[in-house]
Amino acid sequence: MIATIHHFDESLEAAHRLAKLLGFVCQAINVRRFPDGESLVQVAETDATAILYRSLDHPNEKLIELVLAASALRERGARRVVLVAPYLGYMRQDIAFQPGEAVSQKVIGTLLATHFDALVTVDPHLHRTASLAAVVPGIDAIAVSAAATLADLLRPEGVQGTILIGPDSESRPWVESVAAPLGLPVMVGEKRRLGDRQVQLAIAGIEHVRGRPVVLIDDLISSGGTLARCAELLLRAGAARVEAVATHCLASPDDLAKLARAGIARVRSTDTVAGPTASVAIASALAAALVKLVPTRA
Ligand code: R5P
Repeated sequence: MIATIHHFDESLEAAHRLAKLLGFVCQAINVRRFPDGESLVQVAETDATAILYRSLDHPNEKLIELVLAASALRERGARRVVLVAPYLGYMRQDIAFQPGEAVSQKVIGTLLATHFDALVTVDPHLHRTASLAAVVPGIDAIAVSAAATLADLLRPEGVQGTILIGPDSESRPWVESVAAPLGLPVMVGEKRRLGDRQVQLAIAGIEHVRGRPVVLIDDLISSGGTLARCAELLLRAGAARVEAVATHCLASPDDLAKLARAGIARVRSTDTVAGPTASVAIASALAAALVKLVPTRA
């Protein structure tokens, strides 16, 4: 045994998929809630290298248990604790937009760097920060790209004639890297955010979608407002069918219903966040990153 993967309940299947690829043992973390809401976290035996697997959607609830587990693993003898957080929350607020606002990316990054020796995540939402390493100072950090996984998801479907659409300039790197191996054309919109759930969008050259299927590609579906608006515009311009594919999908059931009402025939994402849209495992991409950080039998 070279490393142990420790996971919370919600990551049982994803953690086991990863452990199987790497030949590592998986251990469940036991969490008991006291009547006042505090968590008692208990970890199992570990190897000297402990991999803690937890996706950080809904991070307010998850972060405290995460640092408690990291501390318990060190008490159990782990000398190196690696965090695999396929979705890394709190990355969007990278500056104070208004006086007095906390810069959550910096605060949470520093917290993680204090408790972990390494971090692996997927497509972190870093728009103004140069690299993941700058978010978690002093520890190893690998940002895995989901682009190849998303391209693999689309490839078997015979996507000839399909146009891939990025809803905004921030989505350009994702849509281009998914399109390149499939040889598909790309269009990217311009977005102005009006509020948490409302955006204004324009897509130059939108007339080219008439009669053609389109797939919206983005790193993140949060409220779904961006993709809903994009789909409405594309269907009005005559697109034959609109689907959406994203790395992470945080959308609630109500938000998914809104995407369906906007005319999106199917929404799919990787399993970085568990939920009804998770259609493809990110485990191979995570495993390829982890072998750079953790010794394996080979
Ligand atoms: C923007 O930077 C991202 O790429 C997504 O387009 C955005 O986070 C989606 O948010 P929502 O689903 O709430 O419109």
